[in-house]
Amino acid sequence: MMGSYPAVRLRRTRAHAWSRALHRQTVLTPADLIWPLFVTEGRGVEEPIGTLPGVSRWSVDRIGERALEAVSLGIPCLALFPNTPADKRSEDGQEALNPDNLMCRAAKAIRDACGSDIGILTDVALDPYTSHGQDGLVDDAGNVLNDDTVAVLVDQAVNQAEAGADIIAPSDMMDGRVKAIRMALEMGGHHNVQIMSYAAKYASAFYGPFRDAVGSRGLLKGDKKTYQMDPANGEEALREVALDLAEGADSVMVKPGLPYLDIACRVKERFEVPVFAYQVSGEYAMIEAAAAAGAGEREALVLETLMAFKRAGCSGVLTYHAPLAARLLGG
Ligand code: PBG
Repeated sequence: MMGSYPAVRLRRTRAHAWSRALHRQTVLTPADLIWPLFVTEGRGVEEPIGTLPGVSRWSVDRIGERALEAVSLGIPCLALFPNTPADKRSEDGQEALNPDNLMCRAAKAIRDACGSDIGILTDVALDPYTSHGQDGLVDDAGNVLNDDTVAVLVDQAVNQAEAGADIIAPSDMMDGRVKAIRMALEMGGHHNVQIMSYAAKYASAFYGPFRDAVGSRGLLKGDKKTYQMDPANGEEALREVALDLAEGADSVMVKPGLPYLDIACRVKERFEVPVFAYQVSGEYAMIEAAAAAGAGEREALVLETLMAFKRAGCSGVLTYHAPLAARLLGG
């Protein structure tokens, strides 16, 4: 039987800090965070990204420092994204298969700096390597080819696993890629390399600053709507997740984050598997812009939004605010 006022007063348990602490249902810790890092060529480079204030691209020789910082803050995993120079980009994105590409060198540098104290997540998709900025191979008519792309993504994933990646994260949204990548990893002896699939990834307007960061914004003609999901669709996200799990994904991601919190929550309730959310570049920029405009307080906005992901059922969050949040959380 539900009581009623005045026997029931929900303010009672909120009246003191100790009581609020005691009743708090959701916890956010540095261990919930994955820190995305952008890697660039050169030596001793820190290159600020205009549309992502406070976020920089780092040269490979400075990536180890970031990894050590993450370990000291209690952040368990880094996600790597390369800013491939224009002369190494091509129609077919072959640089993705180079064992000595930026991503692979960065993964090795992290391993040298931190051993197995930190997880390395690598993104599988061709957009940081193609001259047209699409995530896959494109035919003469401009169509992004599914099966031909999957064949390249498989080699890209194996290349990353050989460089020491712990988690392969396909963000390309081609059909059937998780199964193909899982089989290749098994064949290559990478039984314990995980797959975190960007299962429900939407064709979103929130990716702009990321495309600046990896240098693909000016290159991309058109959009990604033939492979990334329509923001209007919810059920389809559940189908995407079901397929990726059946194909061998260890965990799934929903992306972007806050505008798709309903999806994260539905996926968690339906499948009871580890769900991650990507609080993407445009969301980061929005918080920074609000803080800069005096419309909100940065630290409070960051912690409230990250807590929301945990409350929705996420195991963790990819966020550019990871080091700030970890510091605030006492990591
Ligand atoms: C590319 C990729 C994108 C992001 C992660 N991987 C951009 C895109 O799909 O165009 C976006 C991340 C962000 O905005 O922070 N496959």
